Amino acid sequence: MSYSIAVIPGDGTGPEVVNEGLKVLTAAAVQAGFTYELNRYDFGGERYLRTGETLPDSAVEELKQHNAILLGAIGHPDVPPGVLEQGVLLKIRFALDQYINLRPVRLISGVETPIKGKGPKEIDYCVVRENSGGMYTGMGGNSRPGTKDEVAIQEMVYTYDQVARCLRFAFDYARKHGKKARGLGPDNTLALIGKSNVLTHMYKLWNRVFAEIGDQEFPDVKREYYHVDATCLYMVVSPEMFDVMVVENMFGDIITDLGAITQGGLGVAAGGNINPDGVSMFEPIGGTAPMWTGKNAINPLAAIGAVQMMLEYLGEIEAASLVEKGIAHAVSKMKSMTANEMGMGTDAVGDLVAEFVAKG
Ligand code: IPM
Ligand code: MN
Repeated sequence: MSYSIAVIPGDGTGPEVVNEGLKVLTAAAVQAGFTYELNRYDFGGERYLRTGETLPDSAVEELKQHNAILLGAIGHPDVPPGVLEQGVLLKIRFALDQYINLRPVRLISGVETPIKGKGPKEIDYCVVRENSGGMYTGMGGNSRPGTKDEVAIQEMVYTYDQVARCLRFAFDYARKHGKKARGLGPDNTLALIGKSNVLTHMYKLWNRVFAEIGDQEFPDVKREYYHVDATCLYMVVSPEMFDVMVVENMFGDIITDLGAITQGGLGVAAGGNINPDGVSMFEPIGGTAPMWTGKNAINPLAAIGAVQMMLEYLGEIEAASLVEKGIAHAVSKMKSMTANEMGMGTDAVGDLVAEFVAKG
């Protein structure tokens, strides 16, 4: 097979971690016998400051011509908050209709979690975050701005189709990758996370479609429901109760950061923005870490994990599993997952994974 992959290294430490990810991709390709071509794009803060351009419409069309996109990080201290997030990251998610944000929360053996008494057996679930709707649609506005009568409205918007396609993806994911499918428990379980006791309109829709699709198409998948506030509590005190979770966009944004810290932090957490029928984008979720930029101090394992997810998604399962083992190998040699405390440089971590993968 041959793939064309768009690479957006972005800002801050994005380029450094993406380099390590690509190092590992090179090794994986040799092992698994596939080839690829890379197209690099310079979207991000530097380009915006130079040209005033975030992501031109022509780029959207170009990105669509690839098999996958690998993203580093977007954000710049000299650019007002929101400009790059909306102009690059959210624009790609929306324009390419990447309506799922897939965030595995898995504690790798040897990685420290801040949760006392919990290990890789307990912290092993996946969040399916809706990635196209909710409060992220940008509907609303401010009237009489700057006065005491100012009204601010930011609406949470979902259509039936958005809810149905997200739930269908989540059910299917639970069926294929749930704890039963992985030999780790008696059931594949999908938990809908919401706030049906307050957002009654919203969860009338979500709950109904959840039951409908579950009954009709996925009777083999066990269903649960939890309020999002309680979920935060359970994610800390009993993460083992989760298998696959499905959650709307804004709540998903919040709980996936909580999940990330329980799996060892932003140095290791990766995610995918998925369009099951289109082009998907994979990213370390850590951000630009301006403090560590150019210091060879940032942890690249999240970016390497993003490459692993990309390989899985491309169907290169063997290569993905090699990368996963390579990451575990690197972890066993590292002092910490925290930037500047790893006991080695960014490049050395990438080398460890790449060398492991190269040995097959
Ligand atoms: C994430 C990020 C983005 C989000 C920001 C950067 C727009 O926090 O991927 O979780 O809110 O979705
Ligand atoms: Mn977030």
